[in-house]
Amino acid sequence: MSDHQKQIAGEAAAERVEAGMVVGLGTGSTAAWFVKALAARNLSGLRCVPTSEKTADLARELGLPLVTLEDVSKIDLTVDGADEVGPGLALIKGGGAALLREKLVWEASSRCIVIADAAKVVPILGAFPLPIEVVAFGHKTTGNRIADVLIDHEIQMPARLRQADRGVVRTDGGNVIYDAKCQAIHDPVRLADDLKLITGVVEHGLFLDLADEAIIGTDAGVEIRL
Ligand code: 5RP
Repeated sequence: MSDHQKQIAGEAAAERVEAGMVVGLGTGSTAAWFVKALAARNLSGLRCVPTSEKTADLARELGLPLVTLEDVSKIDLTVDGADEVGPGLALIKGGGAALLREKLVWEASSRCIVIADAAKVVPILGAFPLPIEVVAFGHKTTGNRIADVLIDHEIQMPARLRQADRGVVRTDGGNVIYDAKCQAIHDPVRLADDLKLITGVVEHGLFLDLADEAIIGTDAGVEIRL
């Protein structure tokens, strides 16, 4: 069900792309539907900037022409998924550990569209643990400083180092991820600012004032939110 919702959101976003555009390709299962639908359109003159090695592999396999962020002066349109879509199109991203490259690409884009299934839409951000990308060197110390900031925001649970079957998760940039179970983020702007002030925090998954439009897949079709 949610996979179909992701698919129709990705396909609707692919219709927004025009020949000759520089396009940012997001990361995750919803973004993968967009990448597949975009490749199927076979538009001429596209140049695509992937936000992760995983997306780069998929795009390459499908024959999409890839460039890096260094190769282009600006990106016309980026399409990417999200873990939560809150009021004002404030987002939590980074469930797929690609938040740093994603934010770099989003910030270089003239227009950003977030695509998601209906379950991602929330009245307040924070039920999904907030990913925080941290430099591996001294990450436990940085984790303690993150915990202090969280307490200041009345979030009592310390952030947890992300682990997978093969051990500590590393991002494409070689950093680690701490996930903060916030439950409810009442002041995302202040939390974003406070996290960025910690030495060792590379980036966090709060994407505020970055999305221009959301395409939400529902059982009744796609819903556009501006
Ligand atoms: C990756 C992301 C993804 O966009 C986010 O995790 C959503 O993934 P999915 O579309 O698989 O639900 O931010 O870092």
